[in-house]
Order: sequence, then structure tokens, then C-alpha cells
Amino acid sequence: MKLAILSRNTKLYSTRRLVEAARDRGHSVRVLDPLRCYMRIAVDGFAMHHQGKPLSGYHAVIPRIGASVTRYGTAVLRQFELMRCYTPNPSDSILKARDKLRCHQILAAEGIALPATVFGDNPDDTSDLLAMLGPTPHVIKLNEGTQGAGVMLTEKLSASRSVIEALRGLYANFLVQEFVAEAKGADLRCFVVGDRVVAAMKRQAPKGDFRSNLHRGGSAKAVTPNPRETEVALRAARILGLGVAGVDLIRSNRGPLILEVNASPGLEGIETASGVDIAGSIIEYVANGGHRTGSRRRTASIRAA
Ligand SMILES: Nc1ncnc2c1ncn2[C@@H]1O[C@H](COP(=O)(O)OP(=O)(O)OP(=O)(O)O)[C@@H](O)[C@H]1O
Ligand SMILES: [Mg+2]
Repeated sequence: MKLAILSRNTKLYSTRRLVEAARDRGHSVRVLDPLRCYMRIAVDGFAMHHQGKPLSGYHAVIPRIGASVTRYGTAVLRQFELMRCYTPNPSDSILKARDKLRCHQILAAEGIALPATVFGDNPDDTSDLLAMLGPTPHVIKLNEGTQGAGVMLTEKLSASRSVIEALRGLYANFLVQEFVAEAKGADLRCFVVGDRVVAAMKRQAPKGDFRSNLHRGGSAKAVTPNPRETEVALRAARILGLGVAGVDLIRSNRGPLILEVNASPGLEGIETASGVDIAGSIIEYVANGGHRTGSRRRTASIRAA
């Protein structure tokens, strides 16, 4: 297989692991900077060049498109799709997953449970908007926030109002959610490849915080998700059309709730925690054109929670 990986940085752990896993399996692989791909769109066909040379003959492309280059990166990926190149994560699926609000709407419409979420534009509507959500505590999240920065917990209604007022003053996009206290500061990252959760880890917030992000000092350990969690993670990825996805969920009294579906999930934290050769699983899945084969374990097997 002649494979391209769309990534801005060849040195990133995930990019390096995918290259290594592809070479190990005898595939030809090249890392392409999406911002150095440029394209010709015409009725007689689609063409693309990378740093002065034509790109052609690729069987598959694995997108690793960072949030800062979503628009251009997905345009490049779409051009690959138009040039009949297979991708486990199509451009439209990535765009759906990246837009938190849209993603919540799509998943809830398909019966996937998530924390009740409200979203509004006009300050005059804030009181009613919060009434639609229900009592505090509330979790307020910046749409562009990542790694836990921009996720706030408000205990009182007056605090929710003040934070919302401040964010509006900064022209920030945000959504407000019910706080799921029984999650106890933990979330579950389920790594989906095709029709299987190939690895999962539980991230636990440090004492005194409710955010379990590793960048905020959270800790990770491998877990085996229960059948319901596995099913929800697989369904969420399938609904969005993602062959490779990091599905984050929290454990609530009413079952697993989806927080987010990541279309370019990092490999380092979860390969380290689980010992699973996830890069290998992805390459084998892609080489099979989207039909997963058995995965190999690099070290220990998944430990139970
Ligand atoms: N509604 C909620 N109830 C309880 N805890 C929550 C809720 N939403 C988020 N959390 C906790 O806060 C953490 C960060 O939230 P979230 O994942 O939504 O934002 P983020 O990590 O900053 O953004 P992204 O995942 O898009 O990079 C979660 O991992 C979870 O532990
Ligand atoms: Mg998160």
C-alpha cells in the first residue's frame, strides 16, 4: 500500500508511530504537511502537488489534522477523496466531530446520551437559557477550549451568569452543561478502530479538580470498558463516520454520557497506559480498506479497572 499521513510535524509521537507501524508492515509511507499541499480543481479532474511535486497513486491517507488547520486540512483531505484515495476518517466526518455543538446535535438525535447542554447567543436570553438547563452546578466550556483549559465549574446561578457575561464580553463561543458529579472527576477515553474499541484508559482528575485532562495533572490507567460503554463508543464513531476515533465518556447514574469524539486522537498517552499497539491496528485497518484485522499487544494486556 502507498500511504500518506497528513501531519504538520513528523516528530510528533503519533505521526512517528504510524510511520513506524506502516514500514514494519511493508507499506510505503510518506508524511505530508497539509499546508504544503496545493490543489487544482477543474471539471476535467482533480490534481494536487506537495512542495513542487505531483501527488498521485496513493491508496490511502491518514489525516492527523490539528484544530488550528481544520479548514485547510480538510480541504486537502477532500481533494484526496476526490482523487479516489481511501481515508478512515473522511473530511465531512472530521468537520462534524470538530464542531462540538453540531456533534452534540447529531449524536443526541441518534439516541446517544450526553450531559444536557444549552447554547445561546443573546445576553437577554441567559436567564431562560439557564432555566432550560436546570439547577447548578453547571459546567461552562469554551468551544475552542482544549486540554481542560476553558472548562469551568459554577456552583451558584449567580456565578454561571457572571462567567457567561464575561465570556460574551470576550466574544467567546461556549456551551453550558449539567455537572455530572457522580463521574467523580474521571473520564474514559475509548480508542475506536473500525468496529472495535482497541484500547481504553480512565483518566482521573487530581485532587480538588473535576477535570481529568492529563495536561491538568490527571493520571491515566488502562481499563476495560463495560459492554454498554463499548457499544456507545462504537455507535458514536459510526454515526459520525469515523473509522478511527477517541471517544470520551463519563460514567453517570444513567449510564455512559459522551463528552466528545476526537477525530485525531493522540496515541502516546493511551499506548503508554494500555501497552496496545494502536498504531499497528490503525495501519492494518487502513490497509484493509476499513476492515479491521486482529491487533497485536506490544506489552502487557489491558488491566481491569
Ligand atoms: N458535564 C460534565 N460533568 C462533569 N465533568 C465534566 C463535564 N464536562 C467535562 N467534565 C470533565 O472536565 C474534563 C474536560 O472537559 P472536556 O473534555 O469537555 O473539555 P476539554 O478536554 O478542554 O476539551 P477537548 O476534550 O475538546 O479537548 C473532562 O475530561 C471531564 O473530566
Ligand atoms: Mg477532553
